[in-house]
Amino acid sequence: MVGGTLDFYFFSGPSPQKVIEQYGELVGFPTWQPAWGFGFHLCRWGYRDVNDTREQVTKMREANIPLEVMWNDIDLYHALRDFTTDPFSFPADQMAAFIGELTANQQHYIPIVDAAIAKLVNASDTYDPYSRGSELDVWMKNPDGSEYLGQMWPGYTVFPDWFANNTESFWTDALRNWSISGVNFSGIWLDVNEPSSFCIGSCGTGANLTAATIPTMFFPGTPGNLVTEYPEGYNDTIWGPSGNITINGTLTFGNHSLARVLPKRGLGAAVEPNVNLNNPPYALHNADGFLSTHTVSTNATHANGAVELDTHNLWGLMEEKATHLGLLELRPGKRPFLISRSTFPSSGKWTGHWLGDNMSKWRYMYLSIQGVLQFQLFQIPFVGADTCGFQGNTDEELCNRWMQLSAFMPFYRNHNVRSALSQEPYRWDSVAEASRTAINIRYSLLPYWYTLFANASLRGTPPIRALFFEFPDEPELFAVDRQYLIGRDLLVTPVLTPNVSTVDGIFPGQGRVQWRDWYTHEIVDAAVSKNTTLDAPLGHINVHIREGSALLLYDRPAYTIAETRQSPISLLVTQAPDGYAFGTAYLDDGESVPPTPNTTLTITATKGALTICPCGTFDVPQRLAKVVVLGAGPICPVEILINGERVDDDSDWEFDAKLGRLVISGVNLDLNVHNTLTWK
Ligand code: GLC
Repeated sequence: MVGGTLDFYFFSGPSPQKVIEQYGELVGFPTWQPAWGFGFHLCRWGYRDVNDTREQVTKMREANIPLEVMWNDIDLYHALRDFTTDPFSFPADQMAAFIGELTANQQHYIPIVDAAIAKLVNASDTYDPYSRGSELDVWMKNPDGSEYLGQMWPGYTVFPDWFANNTESFWTDALRNWSISGVNFSGIWLDVNEPSSFCIGSCGTGANLTAATIPTMFFPGTPGNLVTEYPEGYNDTIWGPSGNITINGTLTFGNHSLARVLPKRGLGAAVEPNVNLNNPPYALHNADGFLSTHTVSTNATHANGAVELDTHNLWGLMEEKATHLGLLELRPGKRPFLISRSTFPSSGKWTGHWLGDNMSKWRYMYLSIQGVLQFQLFQIPFVGADTCGFQGNTDEELCNRWMQLSAFMPFYRNHNVRSALSQEPYRWDSVAEASRTAINIRYSLLPYWYTLFANASLRGTPPIRALFFEFPDEPELFAVDRQYLIGRDLLVTPVLTPNVSTVDGIFPGQGRVQWRDWYTHEIVDAAVSKNTTLDAPLGHINVHIREGSALLLYDRPAYTIAETRQSPISLLVTQAPDGYAFGTAYLDDGESVPPTPNTTLTITATKGALTICPCGTFDVPQRLAKVVVLGAGPICPVEILINGERVDDDSDWEFDAKLGRLVISGVNLDLNVHNTLTWK
């Protein structure tokens, strides 16, 4: 936004969380994600053909690393044109067969959709989306009413005008035709929708249309644009010799600053008649020259007379809405799954987001935490970074740590640039192992993720939280950006630097809150209001459970989300010293657009007692198979009652006095009725 009338809204909170929820009420709460969206996604720019793409699916299965969704980038396209498949490398019938295999295995497929639509280059050229869109008059215009022609991957291109009457139905038809022709997608990846344009202005107007070929150096991996970067700490001369990068968590390599030197800002006058739309008085002084550099220029004009200068930021948002509604039309009643690059306030109503083209650097892995936290504020909570890094080559250590970190982020996708070293998690044994470990935890936690996202869609509560959201009275937490909370109850402390085997993290609560290790269930001996050093060998990510929590888990996480959802359920309850624990779990069919039958389980613990109370109309098919209570001690119970009946068989439960851990495994409870467990 570079001008206009500003309306200010003030949200009174008073807590950080309430402020976010109140903002959500204004811009709209986030769309409901299908359960499968929480699975692991694999993508890259540079899968050569169907077989190369299929091979990834096979290799992931052989390595037993869960893969939920396989993606294709623009390699899929014929002549780099939207809504097509390359007849040689991705023939439509082979794509249909490949996607059919995925579907049969309860996996999914997502293709890219670019914002720009190719213009026909001569009279014998055929490309239906362009011709149809022209008939329906859905393209953006120059101020004189002629077609606006920018330049993108396929050459000269037009851009859908979301203000024109026919654009939404045109778009839905294009998606439908593509889907019927063989690309039977489960969701859509909306890319370059700022929208990107590689030339300045309507460069195609009056130009020789056949001459708009994009110089090959736009494609990474071609001469002039070779992928030569490596993560900091990789043994090359730019980042210093390996082994001397960090000393026990402290960075010793040079700070890689992203900041550019900005020219001094100059402000224009408040009222400016006869504004030069391409060089307005208020501009972004981002050192990138014209406002229109890399995007459709600010004088491009919409059907209602609005100009891009005033509506630029809405382009992506309107495309997201049109695509979301289009998918709903194609699959009535099913939750659309979208990931988009451009966003604006209220984008979360329609789409999730990935953090864009990052670099395969430790610094970018660290920055991804800030990015994900910011998008919680924006009410676009389903977000994640290109895991293992996009630009440049990654390496084993970075990819290992990143696959583990992103397993604890909402949107979990590994994506790579064309011609960089392959970085699928099966490529290195240590990364495969680290990924299996982290994905296993992620899938067991699905009911928790799902509940957090239900609360986001119902009331705007952010699923991922900065530490101070939950502990607003502890100023030492305000600047913490190397740790975060998933919901109220899980604290994630990832390793963000190379060549270390420990990590420092703070434990909120100023000594009044106990935190337990996810893996060992031991209470952390945490320093008060300052960092504690934790073991963090490669392949291990620190996760801690807050006291007073009650987490519903899938007891047997499986290869796909659909299989995981069949698993029996277990409960992990962490009692506070006074016995208190509380949690809720939202359950439904995982795919229908609400309102749809749902049930919320409320789990409450007091000293020696636990109740699980269902409320709702969804028939919960899975049984409760196991209950783990931490802090149930210190004395071993002599009697355990389930719904008033004594558990007679001693082998059905065990007690660990050191951890105060009571494990009751011989249960098989219907979660559709009220259940009570007591022990004394
Ligand atoms: C853009 C996207 C990136 C994609 C590339 C090629 O840079 O942000 O994710 O791989 O285009 O389509």
